[in-house]
Amino acid sequence: MPVESQERSSNPANQTSGRTLDHAAPVYDLLAPLMTFGLERGYRRRARALLKLQGNEQVLDVGCGTGTLSREIARDLAPQRSKVVGVDAAAAMIDVARRKGSALANLQFDAALAEQLPYAESSFDCAVSTFFFHHIEFALKQRALAELRRTVKPGGRIVIVDVDTPSNAFGALCAWSGYLLFRQEEIRENIRGRLREAIDGAGFASVQRVSRHSGYISIFLLHN
Ligand SMILES: C[S@@+](CC[C@H](N)C(=O)[O-])C[C@H]1O[C@@H](n2cnc3c(N)ncnc32)[C@H](O)[C@@H]1O
Repeated sequence: MPVESQERSSNPANQTSGRTLDHAAPVYDLLAPLMTFGLERGYRRRARALLKLQGNEQVLDVGCGTGTLSREIARDLAPQRSKVVGVDAAAAMIDVARRKGSALANLQFDAALAEQLPYAESSFDCAVSTFFFHHIEFALKQRALAELRRTVKPGGRIVIVDVDTPSNAFGALCAWSGYLLFRQEEIRENIRGRLREAIDGAGFASVQRVSRHSGYISIFLLHN
């Protein structure tokens, strides 16, 4: 097989309808703060706090992008007794994540699909996902949530941060501008409440919207 087509077929990005970001990998860390008005650091801090980590957990980060949150979580944990696994379908994002996280022994990055995770049942104590679910359509949202249910242990915590139904005029303006800018149907689904619908239908033991931010971002805490 020619090298180029070998690379194409081994990149999970070519096996999903999810909006993958290989093309954005080199500049993602510069653009992400602009897209969230500089608030993404705070969302990561809140997500880590909600996981209530003890130090020795196995943690999954789905749609990890360049792995900033995975790396922060790995630093929160005891290096010898824990493992953080970041998963993204875009091989170029995973390359950047591996370069950034290479110094941490308890950190691993895999190029894989959220809707088809390559891990055994109950592999993780908890999981997190930030700004990933508005990159996949409703059927994939359902499949990715089912994979979270399968791979996280019973009783484990799952934190999801993403675009949600707007709760005020400013939030509506931001959310609809994002949809119009990127022409991304998956964003419109979230604005119309379909992320919440998928979460509610996934069979978790409990679902809580913990907080809303900027009128269009929600943080959900689920128990498996
Ligand atoms: C907006 S980025 C979020 C990255 C990171 N979690 C953050 O908060 O900055 C969404 C990520 O989802 C990834 N993605 C899209 N479809 C996917 C899929 N089916 N499975 C895994 N990752 C996917 C993209 O490649 C991209 O890196």
